[in-house]
Amino acid sequence: MSNQPIICVENVSFAYQVNQDQQIPVLQNVSLEVYPGEYLAIIGHNGSGKSTLSKHLNGILTPLEGNVLVNGINTRDKGRIHEVRSRVGMVFQNPDNQIVATIVEDDVAFGLENIGVFAEEMKDRIDFALDAVGMSAFRHRPPHHLSGGQKQRIAIAGILAMKPQCLVLDEATSMLDSYGRQDILAVVRKLHREGMTIVTVTHHMSEVAEADRVVVMEAGKVVLQGTPREVFAHQEKLKELHLDVPDASRIAALVHSEYPAFNPNLIHNEEVVAEVTRVQIREVEASGS
Ligand SMILES: Nc1ncnc2c1ncn2[C@@H]1O[C@H](COP(=O)(O)OP(=O)(O)OP(=O)(O)O)[C@@H](O)[C@H]1O
Ligand SMILES: [Mg+2]
Repeated sequence: MSNQPIICVENVSFAYQVNQDQQIPVLQNVSLEVYPGEYLAIIGHNGSGKSTLSKHLNGILTPLEGNVLVNGINTRDKGRIHEVRSRVGMVFQNPDNQIVATIVEDDVAFGLENIGVFAEEMKDRIDFALDAVGMSAFRHRPPHHLSGGQKQRIAIAGILAMKPQCLVLDEATSMLDSYGRQDILAVVRKLHREGMTIVTVTHHMSEVAEADRVVVMEAGKVVLQGTPREVFAHQEKLKELHLDVPDASRIAALVHSEYPAFNPNLIHNEEVVAEVTRVQIREVEASGS
């Protein structure tokens, strides 16, 4: 990871203007940096401002106060908004709302037409993007016949065609069945391995455990951040924030309360299995000596 962030959120406050004299304050002095190649998860209770923050990352929303810089470009700079949007792409919750064309390849091409990419290059980019999400065989199909997971893959392809540096997923798997969810997670993991920066908003704590870094939001503020292991060590605090922890963390804490030798700070299922084995071996050795 290089030290130069792709995205800098600097002291951002935001409120939705409901009518002339009523504002709903949502973000309060939020600062956050997203570094190249990292996998960042944003978690928080419903209404804590995760989607509002996500929409600031590529200029869909602009701050009331503070600034968001994408590779140094201020998202307030409307003349450069296409540049910002092609660097940071967003995938939303509902796959149906993101399909704009009646043929898959036209859907993937949509964003490219907006930024004026030439026909030959457009073809290359569509090939690349559909291949990256494993949907090349569906190129000439109508997207509305696809499953939810396949539609999300097409939505991701539409973004990849723009050659972004960062992909922001706002609960992109929450409307999918378990198969569709695993499908999208596999695509996201692969993109991350190949160098793509990922920002994901999710309620699935097993997904969060895979991230490099976690940011926890509450009432429009960042209240906790760190590696998944650091964040999930705060089980009591997370409970107060109405947030879950991965099954592995819950099980480890429970076993630790009965057997203090058991490491409580585990986040992956495989770690729990390994720890059970380790503790068993220790006990066998202890009883044998
Ligand atoms: N377009 C809007 N107009 C007015 N208020 C809004 C709008 N969108 C969101 N809000 C309010 O802003 C607050 C934060 O909403 P936001 O969608 O950012 O939260 P969230 O953390 O993404 O929640 P969830 O987990 O439910 O997706 C909530 O109180 C919400 O009701
Ligand atoms: Mg949301």
